Amino acid sequence: MEKKNILTGIRPTGRLHLGHYFGATRNWVALQDKYNTYIEIADVQALTDNFDNPEKVRKSVKKLAIDLLSVGLDPEKATIYIQSMIPEIAELTVYYSNLVTIARLERNPTVKTEIKQKKELFGDKGEGITYGFLGYPVSQAADITAFDGELVPVGEDQLPLIEQCREIVRKFNNIYGQTLKEPDAYLSETKRIKGLDGNEKMGKSLGNAIYLCDDEETVRQKIMSAITDPNKIKKDDPANPDICMVYYYHKLIKNDNLETVCQECKNGTRGCVNCKKELIAKMNEFLKPVHEKINYYETHPEIVDNILRDGTARAKKRAEETMKKVRKSLNIDYFE
Ligand code: TRP
Repeated sequence: MEKKNILTGIRPTGRLHLGHYFGATRNWVALQDKYNTYIEIADVQALTDNFDNPEKVRKSVKKLAIDLLSVGLDPEKATIYIQSMIPEIAELTVYYSNLVTIARLERNPTVKTEIKQKKELFGDKGEGITYGFLGYPVSQAADITAFDGELVPVGEDQLPLIEQCREIVRKFNNIYGQTLKEPDAYLSETKRIKGLDGNEKMGKSLGNAIYLCDDEETVRQKIMSAITDPNKIKKDDPANPDICMVYYYHKLIKNDNLETVCQECKNGTRGCVNCKKELIAKMNEFLKPVHEKINYYETHPEIVDNILRDGTARAKKRAEETMKKVRKSLNIDYFE
């Protein structure tokens, strides 16, 4: 049986942290053996929010590629490519934009939440909502369908975008004849990863993240500042591990000593400083193989360039095939 196509994307706006790893990229690595895997570095989408700072996007593209390779994505199995280098995606976006009303985009829950966040952040001084931002779900539908994406691994916050893509596909097929595949979301069991400060989400803008590329000293400082049970005042007070971020990360990286950590915390026989020191050691051990790879790719940038060039060429071929079908269905295949 032919392998199904799995496709997902990630915006190049910074380096990967543990939230990305446990919430997403770790699953992509597991999926690459079973599926035809496409991983899009979504620089065009990143520009919708960063059109006034293209340098930031540019700087992040290759760093993101390095992080993705270092967590175990294998360029032989997964096609890693740069969105802007595949103009077919932009072309498809134009045709799809006829099939989506403005009201429908404004009703998209993901878009709605993001508009609200923008207003809170920039208030009246904000640029306002651009056409490109409002339309990014349309562009994301093109991302997926250009490669006949069948399964799309995403977080829950992205489900409305997959639904919007499905609607576009159905409308396209209805009007122009069966052409496109309707994708399904692929939800993983791991949801959000909490931040060092106890926030429900680890995020760059929240300043509560451990990055995969953080060196030992940075990891040490960050973990020393992590939030523990606030009711524990003295070193031998019993505490509740379930509200402690240090315990949370012990669990996340599967400390083989977890039962002891938990019991001692509850009994009051484990001070927070010691507990943090143990986590620092385990976390650095956990990150070590990733650092080795990051270091390798950072000292061999030509290898990264070649992987991206190859991946993008492969992806472009695939998108060209889709575009051929789409042109035919749209009756704009003039010289065929
Ligand atoms: N919008 C996604 C995010 O912010 C990134 C993305 C871009 C994507 N293109 C995609 C996800 C295509 C799935 C499929 O996380």
